[in-house]
Amino acid sequence: MFSTTKKIGILGGGQLGKMLCLAAANWDFKTCILDTSADVPAAKVCHEFSKGNFNDYQTVLDFGRDKDLITIEIEHVNTEALEALEASGVEIHPAPRALKIIKDKGLQKQFYAENDIPTAHFELFDDADAVRDAVASGRWSLPFVQKSRTAGYDGKGVSIIRTKSDLDAKLLPGPCLLEILTPIQTEIAVIAARNKQDEVVTYPAVEMDFHPEANLVEMLVCPARISPLVAAQAEALAERVIRAFDVCGLLAVEMFLTPDQQILVNEVAPRPHNSGHHTIDSAITSQFEQHLRAICGLPLGATRQIQPAVMVNVLGEDGFSGPVHYEGADECLAMEGVHIHLYGKTETRPFRKMGHVTITDDTLEGAIVKAQKVRSTLRVISV
Ligand SMILES: Nc1ncnc2c1ncn2[C@@H]1O[C@H](COP(=O)(O)OP(=O)(O)O)[C@@H](O)[C@H]1O
Ligand SMILES: [Mg+2]
Repeated sequence: MFSTTKKIGILGGGQLGKMLCLAAANWDFKTCILDTSADVPAAKVCHEFSKGNFNDYQTVLDFGRDKDLITIEIEHVNTEALEALEASGVEIHPAPRALKIIKDKGLQKQFYAENDIPTAHFELFDDADAVRDAVASGRWSLPFVQKSRTAGYDGKGVSIIRTKSDLDAKLLPGPCLLEILTPIQTEIAVIAARNKQDEVVTYPAVEMDFHPEANLVEMLVCPARISPLVAAQAEALAERVIRAFDVCGLLAVEMFLTPDQQILVNEVAPRPHNSGHHTIDSAITSQFEQHLRAICGLPLGATRQIQPAVMVNVLGEDGFSGPVHYEGADECLAMEGVHIHLYGKTETRPFRKMGHVTITDDTLEGAIVKAQKVRSTLRVISV
């Protein structure tokens, strides 16, 4: 469907929704955003904004009725309403049945086990007391990783339990899973795209370096500094995972590369992803255009990278909350290959994702040096 009149509904109006709308605008595609506040980043760049909660059954049903195609920019949406819309003939990508599995980390892990997709050993639990019992009986021993089944994003639903006192202080409430604490050499991600015609393409693997405190990606490096063999294996695995989920659109596959060069799938996101932002400035086809191509049944675009790239998140500085003020942008823009993307959030908070910067260069080393300069120069504060 290449149509400049059909309505594409997007659940969620954050930065991913905004960048999807911007890509859609290049083709004059019509985008409609559903989110709770007209202040969200995408509201300013879409064709139609509807105010409402994408977790509410009736709201999603009403929003979807007059749309030709529905997609998401966040997986925590009302999937029952999406199933009802699908049954009434509205096209939904990614498929609600895949979304239902993916938005529950417990079901996601079971899916990997059932489909022979390598992942860290795990077990599901009803609550923190059941976890304590499993430790007391010797079935699980410290250290391990506890993850909330449904509440998590950006590390908020993940707790690393290392000591006996962590069992009292750091266990998260509610249904969860335990995973063995995996030795990680490098965290990588591969974004795959698939259309209705069952074509699949994958982007080169990226390397994700995490902020130790905020659990947000601090720097993303593409191509990842891994062997060509591991890179090829990671891309092949991502292709297998997107076919297993039967997803049309993007699927970002986060993986752990262990010191013995084993690849484990950590989690997936069926939408544009932080680890693909650099593609706007460094690849032949951006992940946002690719998502549109895939959900609209268009030919998929080339995923080749034009130049090495580093992506840094622009995070709210610790200690500042309130109306946002950006410092140091002029200095950054004076450097060649520095592409600043600000999401348009009016208020800053410590570690809030306010934007990102992609730095391209002829060499990865050159891009990393410039990225470090950007990180120490661009500051998000409140005055
Ligand atoms: N089993 C594990 N072993 C070691 N580190 C882990 C494990 N699971 C998660 N982590 C660390 O925690 C981060 C966040 O976990 P993840 O499951 O990706 O949650 P989120 O939804 O917050 O991204 C990972 O990127 C990784 O750094
Ligand atoms: Mg993650």
